Amino acid sequence: MKITVVGAGAVGATCADNIARKELANELVLLDIKEGLAEGKAQDMMQTAALLGFDTRITGSTNDYSKTAGSDVVIITSGIPRKPGMTREELIGTNAGIVKTVCENILKHSPNAIIIVISNPMDTMTYLALTATGLPKNRIIGMGGTLDSSRFKYQLSQHLNCSPADLNAVVVGGHGDTTMIPLIRQATWNSVPVTNFLSAEQQTKIVNDTMVGGATLTKLIGTSAWYAPGAAGAALAEAIVRDEKKLFTCCVALDGEYGQKDICLGVPVIIGKNGWEKILDFGLNADEQAAFNKSAEAVRNMNEVLKTL
Ligand code: 2OP
Repeated sequence: MKITVVGAGAVGATCADNIARKELANELVLLDIKEGLAEGKAQDMMQTAALLGFDTRITGSTNDYSKTAGSDVVIITSGIPRKPGMTREELIGTNAGIVKTVCENILKHSPNAIIIVISNPMDTMTYLALTATGLPKNRIIGMGGTLDSSRFKYQLSQHLNCSPADLNAVVVGGHGDTTMIPLIRQATWNSVPVTNFLSAEQQTKIVNDTMVGGATLTKLIGTSAWYAPGAAGAALAEAIVRDEKKLFTCCVALDGEYGQKDICLGVPVIIGKNGWEKILDFGLNADEQAAFNKSAEAVRNMNEVLKTL
């Protein structure tokens, strides 16, 4: 098994670190455009192998895509991160060109790869990866909802004083501060609705804090977050290489599901060896569906910007 992570910034390096620790591949390539960065971080990670006891061979490459040849899974993290006060959407001009070039270079050497997109604005970058490559839709997966659902569980766990691992909770829709939809009505604590334990005020706060989860961290850290985004990318890679058939919320191409077409948006999917294998219908109520439609409209407007670049 071979995995490539494109972009050796904080998100890419964290993702690679998680992949190595989980031994998801025997070969792991970290690639970056910045001279020496990927090689340096790859070596640094390899120097943890004896301490952590993993057998994955990590190599770095400065923009030499031949080193990535034959990858089964490729995770794209390249592009500029947001600064405090910036939305993910403001990154489109720079990141669209980068993501398109990365996809083209990757497919020259790994025509069968499954691609996981982390770069922002994630929904539009996933749509770009799909339309620019013409790959079968199940091989293009946007990571956003996986991260946002984990952040949602964190927020719920703080109010319930429970383990995030005991929660089932998903965020659907876009990966934007105003486009994501934490489905609190459907969230459960070991199968009991969390709404049984939370006041209306608490529920509103949890939903709002989840939606601005990324922006809150960007403000605190001064750049966008990396531990949870990197771990989310690795969790998806794990589900693919181990054919786990695990349920995640991911940004995938919709063809009528959830009432939307010609768009990539976050919905619950099964992830396995073929990429995303099935979309699940979570039966949104009228308010949730209206929020989903609004989210789709915002993402579609952003996708339109691609035509002007
Ligand atoms: C975040 O929400 C990087 O978009 C990612 O932190």
